[in-house]
Amino acid sequence: AERDMHVPPAPPVTLVIFGATGDLTRRLLMPALINMTRLGLADDGLRILGVGLDAMDAEGLRHALESFAAPAGGEGATERGEAWAALRPRIDYLQGDFTADAVYESLVERLGPDRNAAFYLAVPPRFFGDIVDKLAEHGLMAESDRRFRRVAIEKPFGHDLESARALNARILKQVAERQVYRIDHFLGKETVQNILTLRFANTMIERLWNSDAIDHVQITAAETVDVGTRGGFYDPTGALRDMVPNHLFQLLAMVAMEPPNSFDAEAIRDEKGKALRAVRVYDAEEARTNGVRGQYAGGAVAGHPVTAYRSADGVAPDSRTETFVALKLMVDTWRWAGVPFYLRTGKAMAVRDTEVVVVFKPVPLLQFAAARGASLPSNQLVIQIQPDEGMSMEMVIKRPGLEVATAPVSLDFHYADRFRIAALTGYETLLYDLFTGDQTLFQRADAIEAGWAAVQPFLDLWAQGEPEPYAAGGTGPESADALMRRDGREWHELAPGR
Ligand code: BG6
Repeated sequence: AERDMHVPPAPPVTLVIFGATGDLTRRLLMPALINMTRLGLADDGLRILGVGLDAMDAEGLRHALESFAAPAGGEGATERGEAWAALRPRIDYLQGDFTADAVYESLVERLGPDRNAAFYLAVPPRFFGDIVDKLAEHGLMAESDRRFRRVAIEKPFGHDLESARALNARILKQVAERQVYRIDHFLGKETVQNILTLRFANTMIERLWNSDAIDHVQITAAETVDVGTRGGFYDPTGALRDMVPNHLFQLLAMVAMEPPNSFDAEAIRDEKGKALRAVRVYDAEEARTNGVRGQYAGGAVAGHPVTAYRSADGVAPDSRTETFVALKLMVDTWRWAGVPFYLRTGKAMAVRDTEVVVVFKPVPLLQFAAARGASLPSNQLVIQIQPDEGMSMEMVIKRPGLEVATAPVSLDFHYADRFRIAALTGYETLLYDLFTGDQTLFQRADAIEAGWAAVQPFLDLWAQGEPEPYAAGGTGPESADALMRRDGREWHELAPGR
């Protein structure tokens, strides 16, 4: 079996999954647990205890998860099958209502006094507070030198600044910050983690990483998927809440943070928190001029017809929810003074493309006659997060020939050319870190609140009015381009890589 992670298996632990029959467990947690088993990141010390409302027994849960954990056929099917055979008997089920005490009494009994446990809340956010309260009340979160107890919470953490603060306060009343693992799955992505290495292991990058050399930064998460069957969740949420204070701000924090004193979790989280707290909190007028929201109308994505957002299942026919956002933000630190960060994300767009583009300032003067008057394309560093992970540096060279003429070229690096990339979900790293107690890739309460604080002015403003329509399969509403044009800039062309 391939084993491309040279780390010891996680310590013995019971992963208690609230919402074990839900979508997250099936689509992401189970495949990740299988990969961990297959790669030796988890051994027979790992037990899984699903908690859910459905009336069934352990065998029923195993059966329900089987096709997701070990789908038949495809690459690696044999290894996945073997890993599933090993993991299957260690899956157990506890039926019950997770607002009722009986469930927690059974958990105390099943876990016993010395078992490490990680409680994973794969449930709708309205249950987060209740579950943590109950876990604590029943002594399930108490740690000793013989056992750790941790809780993993998947976003959304609140739906605005006030609710995020209230949720953090409620949770931290019961458990210590070191026991709380707030998951942002973007942090499980290899290329996101690579931003720090790129910056802090390369002299030529970090020395230019400031307002002397950088003109502006663009952060894009364009998706081709539309709302699909998620209308019930998405319509009260919208693109801003769904993507910006969490995923896009994680990217922003990695780009904007100062070098940490060490690579310890707390040192990194301190610097990320500082960067996020430096994002300027706009007043209403600034929010109006620096934010664009769009909603997709009908169109076609990659040749497939897409009906308008408003006609999707679970979406109000007169919905004012945005499916696209573009923001111009400022990070008020010495390093970034005057360097705008442009963020955009949207559904039903032309291509899938998650990238960070760092646009450098042009040279101060051009001496060669042939180029005089012509504007040189500026250097750009493109960090391609997905798909086709990699990075490229756009440079200017002399075009071959007698005349002095310039041409833009790109120095390209694609992960796939150099490394064998395991097909992982991103949750392998996150679960491993949850089991081993490394909080580096998890969000601390202060960062979450700083993120909400920066988007709150847009939430307030957009409580009124309508988003601007854009064609499905396009690049977003016209005003998003105007936001850039106003500053004499343009968006990096959306491209999925090769
Ligand atoms: C999720 C959002 O958190 O992230 C989804 O709720 C979005 O709406 C998804 O599609 C994007 O993640 P990825 O890993 O597909 O880029």
